[in-house]
Amino acid sequence: MGRYLLIVISLIFIIILGACNNLDNMNPLKTKWPDHSKESMMMGHGHHNHNMPLDSSTGENELQIPPILKSDKKVGNDVYYTIEAQKGKTEIFKGIETETLGYNSSFLGPVLKLKKGQTAHIKLKNSLDEETTFHWHGLIVAGDADGGPHDVIQPGEEKEIIFDVQQDAATLWFHPHPLGNTAKQVYEGLAGLMYIEDDMDNPYVYGENDFPLIIQDRTFNEQKQFDYRAVRDPDGTMGETLLINGTVNPRLTVNKEQVRLRLLNGSNMRNYTFKLSNNQSFEQIASDGGLLNEPVELTELQLTPAERAEIVIDFSNIQKNEDVKLVMDDGTVLLPFNVNDEENNVQKEIQKPQNPITITEKEMQQEVSKEIVLFGMMHHVTINGKKFDMNRIDFTQKVGETEVWEIYNKPDMMGGMIHPFHLHGTQFKVISINGEEPPENLQGYKDTISLDPGDKAKIAVKFEEPGIYMYHCHILEHEDNGMMGQVKVE
Ligand code: C2O
Ligand code: CU
Ligand code: CU
Repeated sequence: MGRYLLIVISLIFIIILGACNNLDNMNPLKTKWPDHSKESMMMGHGHHNHNMPLDSSTGENELQIPPILKSDKKVGNDVYYTIEAQKGKTEIFKGIETETLGYNSSFLGPVLKLKKGQTAHIKLKNSLDEETTFHWHGLIVAGDADGGPHDVIQPGEEKEIIFDVQQDAATLWFHPHPLGNTAKQVYEGLAGLMYIEDDMDNPYVYGENDFPLIIQDRTFNEQKQFDYRAVRDPDGTMGETLLINGTVNPRLTVNKEQVRLRLLNGSNMRNYTFKLSNNQSFEQIASDGGLLNEPVELTELQLTPAERAEIVIDFSNIQKNEDVKLVMDDGTVLLPFNVNDEENNVQKEIQKPQNPITITEKEMQQEVSKEIVLFGMMHHVTINGKKFDMNRIDFTQKVGETEVWEIYNKPDMMGGMIHPFHLHGTQFKVISINGEEPPENLQGYKDTISLDPGDKAKIAVKFEEPGIYMYHCHILEHEDNGMMGQVKVE
């Protein structure tokens, strides 16, 4: 009898597993591009219900391009800026005011452009009616300027931070990081871009053939307002409305030339797999931390929350009125392109990084000295079996010393889910994923790495500056639920 029961139970278990189509998640020999079609198979399994469809863009609104932030003053290499977190009202839908948050504006923020070698003085002002912090995602910076949950600025208060810009050209971003309240503040509009430039030439021109795309999904209520509390999902909040740079139903007008797009997945939890509707290939030229050694030709590219990629699309052979769109792998339209007559056949120089990235033989052979296990879902998410505690230092590391961290996304009974792992204050190198060489477009500097259930990645981590740094899952609700730890660097 007991044996019969056991057989029945295991049968049911196998059926559930099969229905979730999760067996392939555990296959360590996964192909170059993770297959995320299983997400849509998870419907009906309660907490793995991560398949909220996204509405296609109708293309009725030209994409808004964030302004470049003007400095307050410049004295030699010292440059001064003010960044203010504020509340406001934004006309996202015609004739309707939505209550939003933004930096130096009612919604989202300007591009903060800094140059390697500069000393940045940034005055941070909190004009919200709640606590916030200003975190520089991807920036190599000392812990006390990093804007993690320790660096709270009270409503009405301000503070100045000073740091030297020491990294090569990259597309970074900034967002709030208050303990337990990051997801809501980002959701309501607090996110901006930070461009680092160096001495290398950029043949592209901002707003002309070099565009940022901050990609986010939101749910608006009937009054076209955000109601984060009402829609909050402890496993990551999705929405059915797409916003790119805060524009609903966006389209982008381009000339017949090579165009550089800087993609940021600024969503709380949604993953995007980007492609072109005509299946044309494109080149990825940069990852989170800057230019790749060589451009990588792709037809599809996945970004999980907080990841960035810079891609170059060649529109020079596209006929006017030919229908080309940036779409997701399931066909959802993200951004229709409106291709102008204007030609610009000047081939833009392929950009190379100032300092090419290499993984040394020593790094390849080095022992793992820190193990990170990501586990769970909803309110039960943990790292190494623990929830975040601001008063607990989980790891220590020495300034300037490279250590190999192993990050493991441990599957659960239901298979588990993707966790994008992010580390503050540095850019790391991916040594291997499941023992294999990472795909070419991950062979660049990264600050966030996507892990499928069962995946194990080895990364080489070096901090240039001292301080206490966070590492966490960048599904913002997981972060808020305690899927975060801290490393003290001295
Ligand atoms: Cu994008 Cu801890 O942050
Ligand atoms: Cu960060
Ligand atoms: Cu997570």
